[in-house]
Amino acid sequence: MNRRPGRSARLKLTLSYAGFLFVAGTLLLVVMWVFVLRWLPTNDPRLIQKTYGAVIIVGPSRSDLLRGFAPAAAVALVFLLVFGLLGGWVLAGRMLSPLTRITDAVRTAGSGSLSHRIRMKDRQDEFRELSDAFDSMLDRLESKVAEEQRFAANASHELRTPLAISRTLLDVARKDPTGDRDELIERLDAVNTRAIDLTEALLLLSRSDRGNFPRESVDLSLVAEEAAETLLPLAEQRRITLDVTGEAARTSGSGELLLRMVTNLVQNAVVHNLPEGGTVTVHTGRDGDTSVLRVENTGSRLPPELVSTLTEPFQRGTERVHTGEHAGVGLGLAIVAGVVRAHGGTLDLAARPAGGLLVTVRLPAML
Ligand SMILES: Nc1ncnc2c1ncn2[C@@H]1O[C@H](COP(=O)(O)OP(=O)(O)OP(=O)(O)O)[C@@H](O)[C@H]1O
Ligand SMILES: [Mg+2]
Repeated sequence: MNRRPGRSARLKLTLSYAGFLFVAGTLLLVVMWVFVLRWLPTNDPRLIQKTYGAVIIVGPSRSDLLRGFAPAAAVALVFLLVFGLLGGWVLAGRMLSPLTRITDAVRTAGSGSLSHRIRMKDRQDEFRELSDAFDSMLDRLESKVAEEQRFAANASHELRTPLAISRTLLDVARKDPTGDRDELIERLDAVNTRAIDLTEALLLLSRSDRGNFPRESVDLSLVAEEAAETLLPLAEQRRITLDVTGEAARTSGSGELLLRMVTNLVQNAVVHNLPEGGTVTVHTGRDGDTSVLRVENTGSRLPPELVSTLTEPFQRGTERVHTGEHAGVGLGLAIVAGVVRAHGGTLDLAARPAGGLLVTVRLPAML
């Protein structure tokens, strides 16, 4: 860990540059040597002169050349080696300098600080690609961590509320023993139920996100029928027309989680509807190799920028009144999004121009 970053790679690169230069230089000298030699007599010219008398050959013989050429060649090779080592060291240093920046950034991120970015804007090469990929990974990681922190803070806040209310109720009852016991029990029961609902929703949310559940073939149209049947009394109570249409739409997944998904969507469509006389339409069908579930409802107009935030945990619409029997905890759509993700599908929310919401879930179809 305390080795200086890039050191051994720099040394290796330097050695390979210098080695390559040295080998290339040697080859060049050998080629030159071989070509020059072809034109020279093997014997000493003076000897030839002696033997044949009249033949006069002026010029170096091979041994002359070897004597003159070898030292110069050796100097050139030593120079090449030194030049290769120095040049290679400088070049390798320049080549590897971005790595130091990247390594520093990785170390900073590793020590827990996710806000640092490399931002290597001055190059257009593989190092830039690596640093951009790393930067975008940090972006995602940072927002994920922030989301988790928000989630934990919200969850503890939401769980604290019913507990704090129970304590207040108990305190009041203790100070006033003549108070209405039945009413106290009633209110404690309501608060307790809400805390249990919240805990169950949180557990379901963490389970739905993981995706390690047994899978079976599930027909969304049957699931929609079942959810509608459960919620029919609620819809009737609010004078809302609830329709289920469409054909079979099979997918592979957990029947229980998919039922929870559809129930949450239909419950939202009923609860966040017009105060009276609204409509809810649930439609199932196939579209190529996807099974599609559409839940559409009337209601008040929703600003599009609000719609994109609704799937975040604990996000409730602005118009929500947090009293009465349907004070939601704001986890319904987060659970839906988790179930859809775990089943490899997509969830699309769109504000209807006339008011209300259109939710489209697409899941991989199964024959
Ligand atoms: N079908 C819908 N029509 C209009 N608004 C909706 C619809 N579904 C959701 N919303 C808005 O999105 C918000 C978040 O929905 P979500 O289901 O996550 O939470 P909730 O319904 O408030 O609480 P719960 O956790 O009990 O479901 C709601 O408070 C509501 O404002
Ligand atoms: Mg809901």
